[in-house]
Parts: sequence; C-alpha cells; structure tokens
Amino acid sequence: MYFPQELIDQVQQNNDIVDVINEYIPLTKKGANYVCLCPFHQDSNPSLTVSRQKQLFKCFACGEGGNVITFLQKYDAKSFVEAVQTLADRAGIKLPENYQSEYSKEKQDQKQRLIDCNIEAARYFYALLRSDDGKKGLEYFKKRELSDETMKKFGLGYSNVNGKDCIAYLKNQGFKDKEIIDAGIGVYDERNGLRAKFWNRVMFPIKNQAGKVIGFGGRVLGEGEPKYLNSPETPVFNKSTNLYAFDLAKASRSTYFILCEGYMDVIALHQAGFNMAVASLGTAFTPGQANIIRRYVKDVYLSYDSDGPGVKAAIRASKICREYGLSCKVIDMSPYKDPDEFIKALGRDEYQKRIDEAKNAFIFEIGVLRKQYDSSDPDANTRYDNEVAALLAEMKDEVQRTNYIKACAKEMGISESTLSDMVAKEAGKVRRFSEPVHEKSGIHEKKDDPNIKAQQLMLTYLAEYPSIYPQLEKIITPEDFTDETCREVAVRFFEDIKNGNASPARMVSMFEDEEIQNKVSDMFTGYLNGIEGREEKEAALVDIIYRIKANSLEEMKNSGQSVDPTLFMKKKKELIDIRRIKIQIPD
Ligand code: UTP
Ligand code: MN
Repeated sequence: MYFPQELIDQVQQNNDIVDVINEYIPLTKKGANYVCLCPFHQDSNPSLTVSRQKQLFKCFACGEGGNVITFLQKYDAKSFVEAVQTLADRAGIKLPENYQSEYSKEKQDQKQRLIDCNIEAARYFYALLRSDDGKKGLEYFKKRELSDETMKKFGLGYSNVNGKDCIAYLKNQGFKDKEIIDAGIGVYDERNGLRAKFWNRVMFPIKNQAGKVIGFGGRVLGEGEPKYLNSPETPVFNKSTNLYAFDLAKASRSTYFILCEGYMDVIALHQAGFNMAVASLGTAFTPGQANIIRRYVKDVYLSYDSDGPGVKAAIRASKICREYGLSCKVIDMSPYKDPDEFIKALGRDEYQKRIDEAKNAFIFEIGVLRKQYDSSDPDANTRYDNEVAALLAEMKDEVQRTNYIKACAKEMGISESTLSDMVAKEAGKVRRFSEPVHEKSGIHEKKDDPNIKAQQLMLTYLAEYPSIYPQLEKIITPEDFTDETCREVAVRFFEDIKNGNASPARMVSMFEDEEIQNKVSDMFTGYLNGIEGREEKEAALVDIIYRIKANSLEEMKNSGQSVDPTLFMKKKKELIDIRRIKIQIPD
C-alpha cells in the first residue's frame, strides 16, 4: 500500500526539524540557523547546520544532509518506513501499515523488477549447480572445501557453459530483454543480440542490506581471465554502498566486523564461525561502505592479503575507516596470503588468536613505513619521524590526534611533546582541513561541474526566495536543467511554488537513494551567505541563469537530434539578452 504525499507532509509539518534533532543532539542558535557537532563524521567544530525555514539539515564538512525523516534514517539507521512511523508516533499521527511515498512508487517498482530479475537468476544458478550440468561447479567448490551448508547459506551457484539457457529461463519468467540487460544479467551487442553475461563460472550472489540479490560475482573454474567477473553497476547494484555478506554480518550482532578483500575469504571465515566477515565488491573499500559499517559497529578488523598490494589496500581502507570514526585494526596473517588460506592451514583458533593480537592500523602503517628507512642512519630516522608527524597532522579530530600522538611517541621512542611540536609544524604546511571528507561515487565527482552547480544554486535561490519565481517563470523551465536529479526536483518544485506550498524538505523524500537525498539537500542549502548584499546576489543570479541557459543550448546542439536552425538562432539571441535582464530579490 502506498501513502499519499499529504500524509508525509503532515508528518513533517508536525515534527519541526529543529525540535527533533535537538532531542538527539543539543543545538545552538547561530544566525538564522542552528548548529551542532555532526554525528555523521568525527567532528570537532559544529558543522551540522539546521534550518527551521527550509526544514533541512546539512553538514558542510562531510556532506550529509536531508529532512527530518532522512535525519532519523541516518542517525538511527532506520528505514524510511520506520523513520516516518517514529515521527508519526511522536506527533500522534496514525499511519496505515505499509508506507511509501507516491513519488518514489514508480521508480521503486522499476527497481523491484531489477531485483526480482536478479533473484530469479540466482535461483537459476543455484539449481544449476545441483543439476547434472553443474557438476563441474560443484566439484570446484568441494575442492575448495566448502560444505553443503555453506554453499546453501551463500546461495552459491553455477552459470551454464551455454548462456542461452539463463536468458531463456528469465524470459520465461516474464522478464523483458531490457529488464534483463538493466539488471546486469544480460549483455547486448549488434552481432550476437542478447546473451548471458556469465557463463561457465561459479556464481556468488551479492545481496543488499535487506538480503535481496542485487548482483553477482562469477569465478572461472581454475585459471583464466578475468578471475572474477562482476555485475555492472545498475540502479539496484551500487558497488560503493554495499558489501558482500553485509546482511549476515549485521545479523551476527557482533561488536566488530572483519573486512576482507575477496568473496572466498568471507565464505571461508563464515564457515569457520566468523560470521561478521564482509568484503568490498571487486573494488577498493569506499567511504560509502565505511559510512554503512559505522551504523552497526565501531570496530573494524582488516584481514587483507599479506602481499604488497594487500598491505597498501589495507592502509588505504584504514584511513577511510579513521575518517569515519571507526577504530581499525590489522590482522597479521603471515606467512599465509589471505584468510581463506590461513584458515585452511591453521584453523579457527589460530585465527582468533590473530584477531586478539591485531595491531592498531595506524601503528601498523607507521611500522610499514619504518621498514622503508634505514634505522642506522640518523638522517633517515629524522625523515621517518617527520613523515609520521605529517600523517598525524592529517587527522582532523583533535582528541583523536592527541591520542595517536601519545601512542606513536611511545612506539617511536621520542617524547610526546617533541612529536606534538613536530605535528604542529607539519599542520602548518598541510592544506587547511576544509575539504569535504566524502568522495562518494558518481554524483559527488560531478558536483564540481559548474553547470550542475548553477542548476543547484538556482534551486537554492528559489528555496530562499520563492517570491522571485514569477520573474523566472518565462526564462527558465525544468527542461533547462540537464542534470537528471535537478530536473526531477525542478519539475516538482516549480509546480509547488505555483501552488503556493513549496517545501524543500518534501523534495528530499521524493528519492529513496541516500546519495541522491544528500544531493537534493545540497540543492536547497547552497551557500548563498558568501554573497554579500542584495545587488551582488541579483548579479550572481543572472550569472546562474545565463550559465543554465547556455548549457541547455549546448546540450541541445550536442544531443544529436536535428535542431531547427531558426529555433536555434532564436535561442542564441535570447541568450545574449539574458545578460541584460534584471531579477529583483526581496530584502
Ligand atoms: P583475489 O585475486 O585476492 O582473489 O581477489 P581471492 O579472493 O583470493 O579469490 P580466490 O581465492 O582465488 O578464488 C580478491 C577480490 O577481488 C575481486 C573479487 O571481488 C575478489 O574476491 N576481483 C579479483 C575481481 O573483481 N576481479 C578479478 O579478476 C580478480
Ligand atoms: Mn584466495
């Protein structure tokens, strides 16, 4: 059942964001807004800003933002339904049982189809592994000492030598060609048409947090390239915000997670009883993954390969963990290469011992560094000390830095105050700590695109001064927004302004994806305060309009569709005129 937008509106209207957040973290008034320490990253200066007018929050350091519903989703790791339920209870509003915003319904239905397609494919691979055609796959897993129970628990399967079967099966289940391609199970090319992406591989289904299959890793039987083939990113398979076996690790209720590099490592660990093991998805560990982990545990044990690249990857992962306030330790697996081999050779008790002896990741890192310097050479020692100080200077949180200085000084055999002075000196050299910590996928990389920035700022202006809309109406239309999310928001937001009930907070709930919610919050909380005075703001607005129109025209030219030359010239002329328009912003 889907609930109407009015109900979400009602829930938001009766739960003022300032009051709600204040119940979790004490807020301080600052100008027109409220601020507090951001709970979503290690914050030592209040960087989370809450706006009563817009009913939005935004952290200008780490980028998290949203409305009162998304705040609860993020802070309490609640689902959308749970967050709305909590807020409805708080305000004494009664809700029907199953709840979903009507604007996200259609999208949700599309996504559901892609998940269903992946689930069906997983069923097919699973059954195949246990059939005559799958003997080779089963043998392979047996050779790798997996029990029937383990294979079942991870839903392992096999993709047939003949890939046609899989496609035929999915079509028979009612999936269209496009759905099979969009789900990442099929690939299309002119010559061969639609064919299976995976064939003659053992299959590892990858699940989302809710335990639903969203993609696959497929391993060759024996030698071959690539060793693992992974599903592409799809609307339901985001490699930077999902983890292998996360649903199982979460259910383990362990106070820590073990992070490994490979699917087989995770499976071997679970089989040995370490059911809190997870792995990234064929890519390096990402900030988005750290962000998810820290909602469940505060401690992460890294069990990466013990070779050179493994050590490097472990150090990179531990940095990300530290930035997200996760305490990180490194498990020493020598002389074995990875946890899978370690467990096979020495067994679970030895592995547990290694967990108990695991070293703090930063101490591990400076230990790795130490080996690169000749300890008998005083100059090398100085360079080493300086390098450690530089690493410490990168730590943004003061308390964290102080504690690390203490531990490192001991490790390095120098006094705390000496190291502390060195760190202060290095801190003067390094860039100010103002850059955002989050480097999430796609969306955030594109954030600096000036055209998208202009589209976001346009929406920021409208959220701040809805009364300017009539002046803009004839100049800018939603079609001018070339960024997909901006356009979707513009369509709806313009409509709401016309109806006199614009609410930036409502826009956030149009979207289910957390990164998009952050992006939408960005749109409405852009930094206008940096622009002093009304006239400067008006001038900046004209620049923004110009950029949006110019970009829109450019896209029109590049779209490949035939464009009426007279229309094009007319638009070009209009563009020149935009420089001369005057938009009035109220005081
Ligand atoms: P490894 O090469 O360390 O493999 O890759 P592994 O986990 O030890 O696998 P086995 O034991 O040989 O079967 C670690 C992870 O890197 C990704 C996979 O997620 C793999 O689990 N990977 C590796 C790929 O995505 N593609 C590749 O070709 C290789
Ligand atoms: Mn391995």
